[in-house]
Amino acid sequence: MSVPVLTFFNNKGGVGKTSLVYHLAWMYAELGIRVVAADLDPQANLTSMFLEDERVETLWNGNHSASSTASTIFQCVEPLMRVGDLQHPDLQQITEQLSLLPGDLALAGFEDTLSAEWPNALGSSDLFRPFRILTAFSTIMQAGAEAMNASIILADVGPNLGAINRSALIATDYVVVPLGADLFSLQGLRNLGPTLRTWRQDWQKRRDNWTAPAFPLPRGNMQPIGYVVQQHGIRLSRPVKAYDKWVNRMPREYAENLLMKKSGPYPRTPEEDEHSLATVKHFRSLVPLAQEVRKPIFKLTPADGAIGGHAAAALDAQMDFRKLARKIKAGWFEHDRE
Ligand SMILES: Nc1ncnc2c1ncn2[C@@H]1O[C@H](COP(=O)(O)OP(=O)(O)O)[C@@H](O)[C@H]1O
Ligand SMILES: [Mg+2]
Repeated sequence: MSVPVLTFFNNKGGVGKTSLVYHLAWMYAELGIRVVAADLDPQANLTSMFLEDERVETLWNGNHSASSTASTIFQCVEPLMRVGDLQHPDLQQITEQLSLLPGDLALAGFEDTLSAEWPNALGSSDLFRPFRILTAFSTIMQAGAEAMNASIILADVGPNLGAINRSALIATDYVVVPLGADLFSLQGLRNLGPTLRTWRQDWQKRRDNWTAPAFPLPRGNMQPIGYVVQQHGIRLSRPVKAYDKWVNRMPREYAENLLMKKSGPYPRTPEEDEHSLATVKHFRSLVPLAQEVRKPIFKLTPADGAIGGHAAAALDAQMDFRKLARKIKAGWFEHDRE
């Protein structure tokens, strides 16, 4: 049995994807669910939220050629770019329940290899290598989760629709879409729907082409389980009406583009929409405070500087994230039964 992979994805940067993965990973750990956070974004922002720069530098520069494990996602796939096989990941244990598969700026260099092997997986010659490469992220994340005895993998990806993200999504069971209250975020959503459908179908064709695979292939379900509205993108000077205007278009755009529901009625607001998983509040000055001590906002204490109103906001955030984590979990259990 493979461990479910939940990916946070929108074809738009700055909508709070990385921040969501970080906070939810901590929250699942707090709820007693063993979790692997996987940083598949070549920008490696998730990794820098978890680890000190000095630690990251050691991992990136580490020489692992002599051992059979690798410290970052790129070090795991790097031998595939030559004639070798992938390497097992050496995860960073953040807490007893929470581990990180570190990202790597060098991962961008793997994009061309992934693009080149995509057509080869439909070919008639030896299929081991193309499939080994295209499913590398899946194999590595699953190996990491197994080593950690984790029951969920949360993956953070960049905002583009290239070959790296295609492979990340092939490895994905469930997709959550973070949205900001603006045109760009909704446009990103419109690109996302058709892209996920194409990737799902194209991957199925390739799976059908390898009838006796030499290793387990992910199914690439990419099942959307809802969207998360982010408040922090809005400029404080903008009137509330402008925020409402964009936010209230989300239910319809999500239904049309992700669920292929092409006729209404649609819910009029996210509050009325069962696919709206949460609205994440603007954390304001708690953000730098939390980054400073490398903790999620909801774990900030008075000793970290969260006093008075800050302490109350941290407590609110804890309740909100707990609710969101449970709702997402209910979403994946529900689809498991289908
Ligand atoms: N709820 C929030 N409140 C305030 N700032 C936030 C919130 N979520 C994210 N941010 C900030 O917004 C910026 C973009 O968030 P990030 O998670 O990196 O987005 P993405 O991964 O989609 O590019 C970061 O500077 C982050 O600290
Ligand atoms: Mg990010």
